[in-house]
Amino acid sequence: MHNNKTNTVRDTKLDAVSKSLKQSIKNLDSYTHVRGESLYVDDVNIRQGTFHAVVFDSPKAHGKIKHIDYSKAEALEGVERIFTYKDVPGENEIGGIIADEPLFAEDEVHFWGMPIALIVAESEFIARKARGLIEIEIEDLPVITTAKEAKAKGSFINAPRSFSLGDTEKAFTECDYVFEGETFSNGQEHLYIEAQGAYAEPMENGNIKITSSTQGPTAVQATTARVLGLAMHKIEVDVTRLGGGFGGKEDQATPWAVMAALATHHLNQSVKLILNRHDDLRMTGKRHPYESTYKIGLSKDLKILAYQTEFLQNSGAAADLSPAIAERTLFHATNSYYVPNVTTKVLSCKTNLPPNTAFRGFGGPQGMFVIESAIAKAASEIGVSAIKIQEANLLDENDTFSYGQIAKKVEAKNTWHSAKNIFNSDALEQEVADFNKNNTAFKKGLSFMPITFGISFTNTPMNHARALVHIYLDGSVGISTAAVEMGQGVNTKMMQIAADVFSIPIEKIKIETTNTTRVANTSPSAASSTADLNGKATLMACNALVERLKLVASEDLNVSEKDITLKNESVFINDKPSELSWTDLISSAMLKRVALTENAHYATPEIHFDKTKEKGHPFAYHVYGTAITTVTVDCTRGTYEFDSVKIVHDYGKSMSEGIDLGQVEGALIQGIGWMTMEEIAYNDDGKLLSNALSTYKVPDIFSVPKRVEVIPVETEGNDMAILKSKAVGEPPLMYGIGAYFALQNAIKAFNSNYDLEFHAPMTPEKVLMGLYEK
Ligand code: MTE
Ligand code: HPA
Ligand code: MOS
Repeated sequence: MHNNKTNTVRDTKLDAVSKSLKQSIKNLDSYTHVRGESLYVDDVNIRQGTFHAVVFDSPKAHGKIKHIDYSKAEALEGVERIFTYKDVPGENEIGGIIADEPLFAEDEVHFWGMPIALIVAESEFIARKARGLIEIEIEDLPVITTAKEAKAKGSFINAPRSFSLGDTEKAFTECDYVFEGETFSNGQEHLYIEAQGAYAEPMENGNIKITSSTQGPTAVQATTARVLGLAMHKIEVDVTRLGGGFGGKEDQATPWAVMAALATHHLNQSVKLILNRHDDLRMTGKRHPYESTYKIGLSKDLKILAYQTEFLQNSGAAADLSPAIAERTLFHATNSYYVPNVTTKVLSCKTNLPPNTAFRGFGGPQGMFVIESAIAKAASEIGVSAIKIQEANLLDENDTFSYGQIAKKVEAKNTWHSAKNIFNSDALEQEVADFNKNNTAFKKGLSFMPITFGISFTNTPMNHARALVHIYLDGSVGISTAAVEMGQGVNTKMMQIAADVFSIPIEKIKIETTNTTRVANTSPSAASSTADLNGKATLMACNALVERLKLVASEDLNVSEKDITLKNESVFINDKPSELSWTDLISSAMLKRVALTENAHYATPEIHFDKTKEKGHPFAYHVYGTAITTVTVDCTRGTYEFDSVKIVHDYGKSMSEGIDLGQVEGALIQGIGWMTMEEIAYNDDGKLLSNALSTYKVPDIFSVPKRVEVIPVETEGNDMAILKSKAVGEPPLMYGIGAYFALQNAIKAFNSNYDLEFHAPMTPEKVLMGLYEK
């Protein structure tokens, strides 16, 4: 969002990584991106004779397959073969957490867009034409599209989860105010620019190599092996980079890779399967819609004493990542607030929508929307500003989260008060009030949105990564990790770490593709933890190499190892340059037969969680921040423009300021899109109506806030974060929730009869209805 509308203020106090690198570092992919030279799956050179595939999917949301006639499609010239579940040599099963999802439908279909067969042909055009010739007869079964309906019918993915702290029931009896209500937040389409896809090639001895656009190379490898009935070592998965993932490729990149590999396995020929946008929109899951109820109890002095919620998650037709996402909703149910008595419950409701999946924030945003709604409701009923309630309940040092973790190095109050002071929010509030007094056709609204987001995979065993570092004999360096570059800049960060430890220019370092043969058994690049986990592993490997090299240098220079440092591509003795350069040192190490390769494994220390008690210490640390959003509503038309979003964000000590700022800006806009304009719609038959970019609107340059300011909060950082540079990928998305409440406040300023509704997104249509509600 580096347009001329955006003005960003940056702090320049830095340490840890060398100053110049931190400030000047650009996303290293930008050079190939702007030239169109970056390589995605669709750019990989394909072998002569490669086949192209298209998925045949269900034209009904729920039903029994009575009959399918493939004969006309098979007879089409250029069609090689059509694969169904009958061609699966191993298990027709792709569920990652729960084994409840077939790769291809067998006797029943469970959602509109569910894969039934794979058509493999000489060209994609022919395969698509063949798809139109398949005849299918489905006997309708009842379709469930909403979570409420699923709950009423007892249709669930798994058992409910519940967290509790204190004695909520008793606390409610002691409250001066108690309010109850309902909320709804809709799904969200990932709209990664690069659609889902994979390319599979046959290697020797029945081995298969897959190039996949996935956040989870190991998931692709393991699932392909299971479906094909092969050992994992026969499957190699390579990822160049993604044209965006946003969680949509954590699990849901897998089926397309498996299908391409299945066809390759049978045909002994390369197969490419890239979804077009329509197929991708129809066949893949999205952010989970949530229908929730809340009960909030406060004391006279606005302390939240008790909070209770039931979250109904619309999981779709199979588990996918829903159980983990439901869990993160509970972890973030109280956002940045300390509430002494909490009972939260989440039900993963099985419906006939495509399995919903990971999306930036991973259920956290859905949880936070509910408590912000409860606070807005309480504020409106009591007749105070929501800001007062928010401020009175901000998390403090040593407060206990409902899941048992004790809050440490808390920046909730710091970011809040810094935002108030730096942006002079009293004056901003006054400006809004004055504007509203003097204008009838336009009204302004302002909101505060604090965020607290836990960093680590909530599933403790997933918090590990490895790095494989080679120093080549000319002194150049190659690094392989489990990190997948999806635009978030993780490759640049890995390169910075090695450049810093070796003290060599980044031109001497190459980040290799993410490959299961070089780095095995990896967690997906997700949970905002990619840089922490893989960066720490990279740091360990580089440090180990430096120790080894110092020994070589101490022999060559006849000084103690303790006195040696590597600096500016040379060996320094007691901070003075010696005659030994980096390349000389590497040559010497080669002659001495010293290993110039290192493999390191990092597993986040200290974290644990006991699901039987729903207590533990699941997060390495939390990321904090506060956003102040102002909006102007056109009260004749219901349209609106965001004047500004002013943020104080906890980066820790950012190691790549430009990249991190890009993450905050991008996430903020994505959050605003979710809350205001992105409207997923299915009809009662479970057919996706918002199935094109003409019917699904994401923020563009005209709808982003006119001004976005991001100021880093002054903190010590956290040692659990890589070089004290905190994870930044997901947390800022939740600043976007402030947009919803800023809009509500503007509506209220126009129409005192407006009865607060918590039904996101707040589209211009809804704003208009609210403005004229009686
Ligand atoms: N930024 C870009 N440009 N593209 C993406 O796909 N994914 C987001 C976030 N930022 C994403 C992104 C999500 S959902 C996550 S979990 C993190 O990046 C993953 O990367 P990280 O762990 O390196 O932050
Ligand atoms: N975040 C993101 N992805 C995940 C998580 C998580 O906490 N757990 C499993 N996959
Ligand atoms: Mo991000 S939703 O953890 O891929």
